Amino acid sequence: MIKIKSSAEIQKMLKSNEIAAQALALAGNSIKAGMSTWELDKIVHDFIVSKGAIPSSLGYAGFPNSCCISVNEELIHGIPSKKKIIKEGDIVTVDVTTLFNGWQGDNARTFKVGTVSDAAERLLKVTEEALWKGIEQAVAGNRVGDISAAVQQYVESNGYHVVRQYVGHGIGTEMHEDPEVPNFGRAGRGPRLVPGMTICIEPMVNETTPDVRVLGDKWTVVEANGRLSAHFEHCVAITNDKPLIMTLESH
Ligand code: MF3
Ligand code: CO
Ligand code: CO
Repeated sequence: MIKIKSSAEIQKMLKSNEIAAQALALAGNSIKAGMSTWELDKIVHDFIVSKGAIPSSLGYAGFPNSCCISVNEELIHGIPSKKKIIKEGDIVTVDVTTLFNGWQGDNARTFKVGTVSDAAERLLKVTEEALWKGIEQAVAGNRVGDISAAVQQYVESNGYHVVRQYVGHGIGTEMHEDPEVPNFGRAGRGPRLVPGMTICIEPMVNETTPDVRVLGDKWTVVEANGRLSAHFEHCVAITNDKPLIMTLESH
């Protein structure tokens, strides 16, 4: 069941998403070669708590930390660790989910650590652009499939692969609500977008295959061939006009 939000509810969601966006920006500004992903998680955790919010990834289905941090071939759900040291040239995805005043916020971005390879540079550019292609379609009257098809077409026309096993989602008082928002599919199919729907659009893009594997820690999802992967996510609301990007640092 898709829950349509009132404008008062959208206003509350904006606050949570602003905190999520600020935490993500702080993570990006804090990443340095030599630091562990655990240290980065602590920075994110402390910021969210300082804003009176809750890092809703912590304890979600047993997830042990406050955000997901996924390095290089790791796509999503990387578990922060004191043993995982970030290096110059890495690409690091941080995915931050917040709960504030009963409402969820959720965004992610793959950051560059210093100078990265041309291959990494291009993958990040295409994945972020694919997110914007999807957001462009997030208008009332369109269908979820219009978002999915726009993302898939952009990614594949650039020679990369969209992951099928994990998808974007509706969001509200729950982190994951209906509808699913896949990064693949056909234009004109799927649920109709109406004002008051709030969704997370999150292209997950692999360099060489759509396939993924889950590591022995039962969480970390990696590119099946061990090559690079990237993930960008915004939370958006469908309005009577342009899509409202909820995950901005201020509104
Ligand atoms: N933020 C993720 C998403 O985009 C979900 C986090 S999984 C968790 O849907 F286990 F870390 F919470
Ligand atoms: Co997320
Ligand atoms: Co999400």
